[in-house]
Amino acid sequence: MLPPPAGPPATVAAGGDGDRPPVSLADFAELARRALPPGVWDFVGGGSGVETTLAANRAALDRVAVLPRVLTGVERPRTHAPLLGREQAMPVAVAPMAYQRLLHPDGEPALAAAAGAAGVPYVLSTLSSTPVEEVTAATAGPVWFQLYWLRDRGLVADLLDRSHAAGCAALMVTVDVPVLGRRLRDVRNGFALPPEVTAANLPAGRDDLAHAGTPGVSAIAAHTEAAFAPALTWADLAWLRERTRLPLLVKGVLDPRDAVRAADVGVDAVVVSNHGGRQLDGAPATATMLPEVVAAVGERIEVLLDSGVRSGTDVLRALALGASGVLLGRPMLWALAAGGRAGAQAALDLLAVELRDALTLTGCADPTQARRLRTLTGD
Ligand SMILES: Cc1cc2nc3c(=O)[nH]c(=O)nc-3n(C[C@H](O)[C@H](O)[C@H](O)COP(=O)(O)O)c2cc1C
Repeated sequence: MLPPPAGPPATVAAGGDGDRPPVSLADFAELARRALPPGVWDFVGGGSGVETTLAANRAALDRVAVLPRVLTGVERPRTHAPLLGREQAMPVAVAPMAYQRLLHPDGEPALAAAAGAAGVPYVLSTLSSTPVEEVTAATAGPVWFQLYWLRDRGLVADLLDRSHAAGCAALMVTVDVPVLGRRLRDVRNGFALPPEVTAANLPAGRDDLAHAGTPGVSAIAAHTEAAFAPALTWADLAWLRERTRLPLLVKGVLDPRDAVRAADVGVDAVVVSNHGGRQLDGAPATATMLPEVVAAVGERIEVLLDSGVRSGTDVLRALALGASGVLLGRPMLWALAAGGRAGAQAALDLLAVELRDALTLTGCADPTQARRLRTLTGD
C-alpha cells in the first residue's frame, strides 16, 4: 500500500465553506481562478488565436494509452531519474514562466524554493520579476536559466554572465518567440503589467512598454516586439554553444529536422514545446510530434516535452513516448497563486504521488523503465 498523499497545507485548502484540499492539479486551477484578477487569470491560462493548439495539447495526451506490464514484482517504484546527467527526484522541471509576482507577492523565489524542496530543477525566465541572483539565493536546488534572445546582444552577454555567476546549472534558450503569438484574451483585456511587477533582470526602464495599458493592445506583446531579436539563425545557436560550458537546452522545437540541426550544433537537449499553445495557433500538439523527434535524435541528446502536462499519468505518457522528462507549466503558477511556496510544494508532492502510482500500475520500478512501455494512440 502506498501512503496517502500528504495533505496540502491549510493555506492551500482555505477558501470558504465546502472547500476540500486539492487532489489533482486541476483543483489548484480552480483555487487560482478565485484568487486572481481576471486579466491575470487570462494571461496565464490563455493561448494564441482561437486556442486550437492549446486544446490539441490536452487532446493528444488524452489519446495516449499506455500498456501496463504485470507480474513485475514492483512494490514501491522510485520516481528518481536523470535529467541532463544529474539525478532528480522526478523527471520533471518547472517550466520557465515570466512575471511570477503577478501570481503571488513571493513570486519566483517561492516557486524556486518549492522546486528545490521537491528535488526538481526550476527554470528561471529571462522575464523574471525577481533578479536571478535573488532566485538562486532562495533555493538549494538547481536553477536553470532560460534565455530570450534580446535585440541588444550586450544585454544577452550580460545575462549569460550574471546567470553563470549566480550559479545557474544549465542554460535553456527559447526559440519559438520571434514575436509573441496573438493572444486574444490579452488583446481584449488590454493586458499590461501592474507597476509593482517588473522585468527585474533587465536594466530599469527597459520594460516600460509592458506597463503601458492601452485598450485593445497586449502590452506584453508590444514589449516583446520591441525587446526580442526576431530573426535568429543556427549561427546564433552555435555562438551560444561556444560561449557557455553549461548544459544547453533548446526549447520550442517541433520539427524533427530542427532537432537534428540542434543536435549537430552540440546542444544537450531539446524541449519539444509549442509554448503551451501560446505561439503558432495551429501548430501540432507536442505529444503528436514527440515520437518523431525521439526517433530523430533520441540516441544523441535528451528530449523533453512540455505543453499540457497536468498529472503523473501525463508524465508517464511522455516517458512511454520516449521523453527523458517534462516541463510543468501553468499548474505551477496556479499552485503559487493558491498558496505561495506551500501551495507549489503541495502541487509537486501530489505530482510525485501520481507518478509513483502510474509507475506501480504499469509495473515499472523507475521512470527509465517506463520508457520501454508500449503506447497506443488510437489514431
Ligand atoms: C504565464 C506564462 C508565461 C510564460 N513565460 C515563458 C517565458 O518567459 N519563457 C519561456 O520560454 N516560456 C514561457 N512560457 C511557456 C512555458 O515555459 C511552457 O512552455 C508552457 O507553459 C507549457 O505548457 P503548459 O503551461 O500547458 O504546461 C510561459 C507560459 C505561461 C503560461
